[in-house]
Amino acid sequence: MATNKTFTMIKPDAVENGHIGAILEKINSNGFTIKAMEMTQLSRRDAEEFYEIHKERPFFGELVEYMTSGPIVAAILEKDNAVADFRTLIGATNPDEAAEGTIRKLYATSIAANAVHGSDSDENAAIEGNFFFNQRNRY
Ligand code: RTP
Ligand code: MG
Repeated sequence: MATNKTFTMIKPDAVENGHIGAILEKINSNGFTIKAMEMTQLSRRDAEEFYEIHKERPFFGELVEYMTSGPIVAAILEKDNAVADFRTLIGATNPDEAAEGTIRKLYATSIAANAVHGSDSDENAAIEGNFFFNQRNRY
């Protein structure tokens, strides 16, 4: 069943480079409502679990190192067609290929350090949101 929520993280490079405010402004001005949000730092175990789908990929070790390298901001976002519309707003995984005006084009450092995460399906949005926010059921 389609839902109207997605999950995002502002990744360590964007936090480090001072882009939290600009990215949240972009999220709000594109019609997304922030339903839950937390600044935190992933443990190695958190990152390995969150990105388990990529564990056989050659970049998995680098991805875990990077995602645990500094604080992140996790959030649940709400909007009609949230998953697809947020993927459009963030742009391609590789910022060199991301469309003009997208968050990754504006703020990403590289294909690995690409500023933001966006869920790729309604199912994963629910899994990922629960991973961070389920215990207090705040959204
Ligand atoms: P995300 O899950 O973070 O929203 O990114 P995505 O769907 O656009 O890309 P995905 O294929 O799911 O890859 C997850 C993250 O792994 C890192 N990556 N590094 N070095 C590389 O070639 C490489 N490829 C992917 C990126 O941080 C990517 O967002
Ligand atoms: Mg992905």
